Amino acid sequence: MGIRENIEEIRTALEKQLSSLNDIKQLEEIRQQVLGKKGTLTALLRSMGQLSPEERPAAGQLINAGREQISALLDERFSALKARERELKMQRDAIDVTEPRELPRIGTLHPNTLALDEVLAALTGLGFDVVEGPEIELDRFNFELLNLPKNHPARDAQDTFYVDDNTVLRTHTSPVQARTMLSRKPPIRIACPGRVFRADEVDATHSPVFHQIEGLVIDKDVTMGDLKGTLDALFKKLYGDDIETRFRPSFFPFTEPSAEVDLTCISCRGKGCRICKGTGWIEVLGCGMVNPKVLEMCGIDPHEYTGFAFGIGLERITMLRYGIKDMRLLYEGDERFLRQFR
Ligand code: DAH
Repeated sequence: MGIRENIEEIRTALEKQLSSLNDIKQLEEIRQQVLGKKGTLTALLRSMGQLSPEERPAAGQLINAGREQISALLDERFSALKARERELKMQRDAIDVTEPRELPRIGTLHPNTLALDEVLAALTGLGFDVVEGPEIELDRFNFELLNLPKNHPARDAQDTFYVDDNTVLRTHTSPVQARTMLSRKPPIRIACPGRVFRADEVDATHSPVFHQIEGLVIDKDVTMGDLKGTLDALFKKLYGDDIETRFRPSFFPFTEPSAEVDLTCISCRGKGCRICKGTGWIEVLGCGMVNPKVLEMCGIDPHEYTGFAFGIGLERITMLRYGIKDMRLLYEGDERFLRQFR
């Protein structure tokens, strides 16, 4: 067989191999098999040694030309495979921006927050400023300035968590009253929401941590009628015009006179149900006229000014508002419960 035929044969075999080849690594192997040290074309080149000197130049030309052809074939196939590989990778990595995907999960406002926002919106609508105070509170503000001196029996009712002799976790939001009276001049109209603490049992209606919203109004000629009117306006605004308030005499050291306030049951609208235990009324807050002694201790002249105050239990309101029967649900952080408040 002549050199030309040899080259021809190598080339046809190569073309055949390449036509069914899909893998770049295999392509490089084939390149070695033909052009490598032990390759078929390299062998042909070596065999030139057996030719006569006259035959060699022509044979050399043939082989070189063949080599170029074969190289070109391999290079061409290489680029084609590379291009294909890139194409496949693009397809694999492609993102369909039109495909709907799972939305990120969005948190919800806590029912206490929702109920508080409503109450504060109503109170600010009535002209109250929102003011906050510390949760870790001095005995002086939590008790002393509210007419609860040391050894006063009413302190026992509060199941206080003590931090040290002079410092407590506030047992109510009333200390913000004292702080505000000492730092502002009347007229004062403030609403103070916040967390309070008591060494209490945990059950469906009690928790050692809960929330109150304190209200305080101080001005000239403020009367109990203003207190009643304000609370009526607040709850009618919140729950509807058919809702009424009922005052029952009570005692708090920081108010005189004092009252506990019942609200028309917002669940049965006063007809009587399980929530109001058939009475048609539910207790929601304590209130009264600010005790003149408290005004005096807080630097306000009780001959010039009078005031009223109230303390609403937030959880009570939240539970009524959303028909929640067990207070513990508000603190357990169970997502199945919480995500219903969207
Ligand atoms: N601080 C009282 C409590 O936690 C609630 C309260 C009663 C607040 C009467 C007041 C008030 O402002 O006037 O039990």
